[in-house]
Amino acid sequence: MYICVCNGITDREIRQCVASGVCSMSDLECSLGVGASCGRCREAAVEILEQSRSPAQVVFSSALA
Ligand code: FES
Repeated sequence: MYICVCNGITDREIRQCVASGVCSMSDLECSLGVGASCGRCREAAVEILEQSRSPAQVVFSSALA
């Protein structure tokens, strides 16, 4: 399913990106361009990001906050 229509990014691509180590929305934006144009996809992208992160990524990103 397309999440970011502006950049043609699917939920699968976001999940693959998270599996390769991306753990924040800003990283997703830099890697795929998700949310970099109109921004309407950001909420859905964050939801997929949070669902896809491994427990280690959650601990790591919490430590950075
Ligand atoms: S839908 Fe993702 S930036 Fe517009």
